[in-house]
Amino acid sequence: MFTGAKVGGDTVLVLAPLSVLPGYQRKGVGISLIKEGHKIADASGYGYSIVLGSQGYYQKAGYLPADQFGIKPPFDVPDENFMAYKIKEDASDIHGIVTYAKEFGID
Ligand SMILES: CC(C)(COP(=O)(O)OP(=O)(O)OC[C@H]1O[C@@H](n2cnc3c(N)ncnc32)[C@H](O)[C@@H]1OP(=O)(O)O)[C@@H](O)C(=O)NCCC(=O)NCCS
Repeated sequence: MFTGAKVGGDTVLVLAPLSVLPGYQRKGVGISLIKEGHKIADASGYGYSIVLGSQGYYQKAGYLPADQFGIKPPFDVPDENFMAYKIKEDASDIHGIVTYAKEFGID
């Protein structure tokens, strides 16, 4: 699932959760879902996607530590697990703390 979030005044996407039925795992479904999501996000005008999770997994889909972009988490988490993906190559630089959709209950 991708939801809208804010970094400063800019709208970004947050990827969470990502889930594949156990019987279909390790067949490339998860990475395919992410890549297809990025294509739809690109066509919809989004510049960045943010994820909190396993660095070993999400780097396979192109995610990098978010602090490389100047994007910070709103909670305490190891830098390597808070990642961002630049959906649009020409997306403007953005900096700041991520504000999740209110439904996540993160203040
Ligand atoms: C994590 C999850 C979505 C991965 O989906 P998947 O369809 O099994 O993953 P893929 O087949 O696309 O994986 C591609 C690669 O990532 C690797 N991989 C899969 N799960 C991994 C994990 N948990 N950690 C690190 N690497 C992982 C695979 O071995 C594969 O590597 P390879 O290309 O070198 O062979 C799935 O295991 C799942 O639903 N887990 C339970 C929910 C969860 O933890 N979601 C993530 C946090 S919200």
